[in-house]
Amino acid sequence: MLADSYGNAISTSSQAARDHYDRGLKLFLGGEYGALEAFRAAVNADPDFALGHAACARAAMMSAQIVEAKSANQRAQELVRNADTRERRHIDCIGLVLSGQAPRARAAVLAHVQTHPRDALAAQLCANVFGLIGFSGEVGREAELLAYTSSLLPHYGEDWWMMSMHALSLCETGQVEASRDLMENSLALNPRNANAAHFKAHAQYEAGETIAGRAYLTGWLADYDDRSMLHGHLQWHVALWALHQGDANAMWQAVDTGIAPGGAKGLPINVLTDTAAILYRAELAGLPVDPGRWLTLSDYAAQMFPQTGQSFADLHAALSHAMAGQGDRLAHIADSATGFAGDLVKPLARAWGAIARENWAGALNELIAVMPATERVGGSRAQRDLLELTYANVLLKLGLADEARRSLAIRRPILAGAPPLAGLT
Ligand SMILES: [Fe+2]
Repeated sequence: MLADSYGNAISTSSQAARDHYDRGLKLFLGGEYGALEAFRAAVNADPDFALGHAACARAAMMSAQIVEAKSANQRAQELVRNADTRERRHIDCIGLVLSGQAPRARAAVLAHVQTHPRDALAAQLCANVFGLIGFSGEVGREAELLAYTSSLLPHYGEDWWMMSMHALSLCETGQVEASRDLMENSLALNPRNANAAHFKAHAQYEAGETIAGRAYLTGWLADYDDRSMLHGHLQWHVALWALHQGDANAMWQAVDTGIAPGGAKGLPINVLTDTAAILYRAELAGLPVDPGRWLTLSDYAAQMFPQTGQSFADLHAALSHAMAGQGDRLAHIADSATGFAGDLVKPLARAWGAIARENWAGALNELIAVMPATERVGGSRAQRDLLELTYANVLLKLGLADEARRSLAIRRPILAGAPPLAGLT
């Protein structure tokens, strides 16, 4: 029986299908463009290759091609009788994610990797910031992610993907130098691993290395296909550093060409969350933001996320609606937010509404419920700095500048030296 490059037996007798599958696996795990095309080639070479169809479903999901994802998943389910136990469980995990059963999918992956830790495409579902652990909404999910990658790491040896996943977990639990060292090892093995470039940038952000980080990531992006999974989000990191350096022109160029609706080619959750975050962080830093940008983003959010449920998206949608003056849309989220952190999205939505009305005391009252548990809303620490800066700005507007500085110094010391907040520098 043939095997993938992680040593997992795969139910195909076609060497061509195996080779295409393995190429897709590498591209997918590295966040590079072309994974879906490679997986499609695998099932073209062997139409009965169940795992190949499941991989198509997974890659289509990650490029927002949901119709194809569902049909590929259906085909994988039909062919599952040809698969072995490892493949059946792998296919089950992907099917659960695609059908929106995140808690069940998480439990299935955690059980599956106990017996098949090197089933990377299944293990990947729980890894990374936007994975099933990252979006669990649970207290301690950053520590849980670290425990997860710590348990898998010994099974992977000198593997660039797992190194980058564990390095990411280290970074998000404050072990920045250890993260950076491991990420450099990953990049030495695969310089085009976008996950490693991404979290090397996070380590640089956490270390306050604005100039070096911006230069590194700008150079790395020069060879990164703009259709790739992380392109828009990496542009967001560049835009953030440009903002911190006072280079508004470069920031707006990154927004317009790589981050915002119309310019970005990535997943809707990245387009919404990254655009909302950079627009509001620009406002907090004192840059004027055209109200038309907020209205465009509010329309995009209403179109792409008409129902609540993805809490990280919902909180950014609420920000967009508040800043665009779209009261009905904001009220829908504030009144009915569901999802893994819906209980936090509701007060956050009310806070954004109060902020838009310059009711700073009202905003503070709502944020008090959110700030002790921001980890639960999802996203990276760099992304959740949106909330830290929002909170500090509300304090500042209330005339509590010392309290605003103290809040940053206690909660996010990396922002305290030169806060990207007009009036507090
Ligand atoms: Fe990031």
